[in-house]
Amino acid sequence: MIGTYAFCLKKYELIFGLIIISSISVLATNVCNFNVRVKQTLINEGFHRNITYGIVFNTENDDERWLYEDCIVGLEQELPSGVFTNPDELSDLRRNKKLNAFPQNRVNVELPAEQSSPNKVYITGKVIDEKVNLWLPVHARYYQAVSGGGTARNEIEPPTLFLHCPDERLELCGANNAQAAFLCNGSPREKCKWKEIPYTMMTDTLIWDVPVGNTDHYYLVAMGTTTVIVVGSLYLLKTIHEYQISHRKKKL
Ligand SMILES: *[C@@H]1O[C@H](CO)[C@@H](O)[C@H](O)[C@H]1NC(C)=O
Repeated sequence: MIGTYAFCLKKYELIFGLIIISSISVLATNVCNFNVRVKQTLINEGFHRNITYGIVFNTENDDERWLYEDCIVGLEQELPSGVFTNPDELSDLRRNKKLNAFPQNRVNVELPAEQSSPNKVYITGKVIDEKVNLWLPVHARYYQAVSGGGTARNEIEPPTLFLHCPDERLELCGANNAQAAFLCNGSPREKCKWKEIPYTMMTDTLIWDVPVGNTDHYYLVAMGTTTVIVVGSLYLLKTIHEYQISHRKKKL
């Protein structure tokens, strides 16, 4: 009798415990119900363009604002081998407080696309009034000319979005800290904890086609140049020769 009672108690305790655990996990996932939307666009024309990011935080009710107000958004943007950012340009923009962005690795701005590899860039900005507008100046690399010419396609993927807050509030979300511990505010010593935040992408993957030189034109141009040089030299030689003859005649 007592044994059965104890067994029942344990069973109820178990069920009760399970209910508590599941409600905690439901709470934890609900607390961090971010509703983030991102628009990524490529503006301007030619080999020097501008990626813009419109990031909007939208919660269903206003009392969830505390989750992201005064937090910093960090974007990790991977660029394909045909696209690069200029580190000098970015450091000027940082110095003038126009934009806080920095490349992950050293960037060689002169290499053609074929000899380059994809590179990551980090961009950070503060959430103000539920919004962050960020941008990144990007440049296309030249492709080596091929027979027939044409275009080469660069695809710029959506960025990964991280959030860092001035306090421990994101600890409630239970999300893992990001592996990429990138910088907080441009100071190399100040590393912060970033949480990766899922978002809804509102725009298509960016496509950037760049023209590729045509080697056929190359030979045509080379042949033209050679002809001009040969004809020009012959003409020059002829003129010099005639001059010498007329000069000699005068001396005599
Ligand atoms: C890129 O676009 C943003 C947003 O329109 C603008 O503020 C910024 O000045 C532009 N940068 C360049 C280099 O054109």
